[in-house]
Amino acid sequence: MADILFLVRNIFIIILIIFLFLMLWIFVIVRILRKFHKFPIPAFATRLIDNAWRRKFIQKPKLIAERMDLKPGMIVLEIGPGKGSYTKAVAEKVLPNGKVYAIDIQEAVINRLQKRVENEQITNIIPKIDDAYNLSFEDDSIDRIFLITCLPEIPEPVKALKDFKRVLKIGGILSLSELLLDPDYPLRKTEKRWAKEAGLEFLEGFGNFFVYQLNFIKK
Ligand SMILES: C[S@@+](CC[C@H](N)C(=O)[O-])C[C@H]1O[C@@H](n2cnc3c(N)ncnc32)[C@H](O)[C@@H]1O
Repeated sequence: MADILFLVRNIFIIILIIFLFLMLWIFVIVRILRKFHKFPIPAFATRLIDNAWRRKFIQKPKLIAERMDLKPGMIVLEIGPGKGSYTKAVAEKVLPNGKVYAIDIQEAVINRLQKRVENEQITNIIPKIDDAYNLSFEDDSIDRIFLITCLPEIPEPVKALKDFKRVLKIGGILSLSELLLDPDYPLRKTEKRWAKEAGLEFLEGFGNFFVYQLNFIKK
């Protein structure tokens, strides 16, 4: 009996190692492919990546919102909201008069978020189809902009950052959060360089190599 248990345990360990090895290879291949050809992840995949495990242990919506120095009444813009978990945490912090515009280039993402907003009767989230390169917002009109695992997916990040700078108010903050498990994950120094090229000044950083958040200010 002990022999069978020993055998089963070893088979399980070998299968686990093979699985992890395969996952690592898939990750590396996807990362290399995306270096050459960037495209928005399909709407259905944004549901998969916004899961309870990630929200509870890795990128916690409330913690991310706390690091943005949000105040009631602020006007906030999120690019690439996915299922809207981070949008919701931020929207709660700007109540009663503040609002969050959640924009995405994919209609399916915006339609799904619109349904969630209606179902949950959230009054201060405004989902909208828009493009990060050419935002339909006035100059100097937004207090905070945030992106969660989104900027490195945009093929020309500096071009997008320049438009974020245009719509941010003076003293407004851009907050970027990244996760190593994302095949597009950039190093902190890469995002700092992109932001500098767009004319934004580094303010503060949080987290670690695995998951981080960087804030930049428009002076
Ligand atoms: C990886 S998902 C991030 C979802 C969510 N923030 C999260 O972390 O769970 C990135 C989103 O950015 C959107 N996106 C990509 N390029 C964009 C652009 N140029 N303008 C607006 N949205 C864009 C994609 O459609 C996609 O929904």
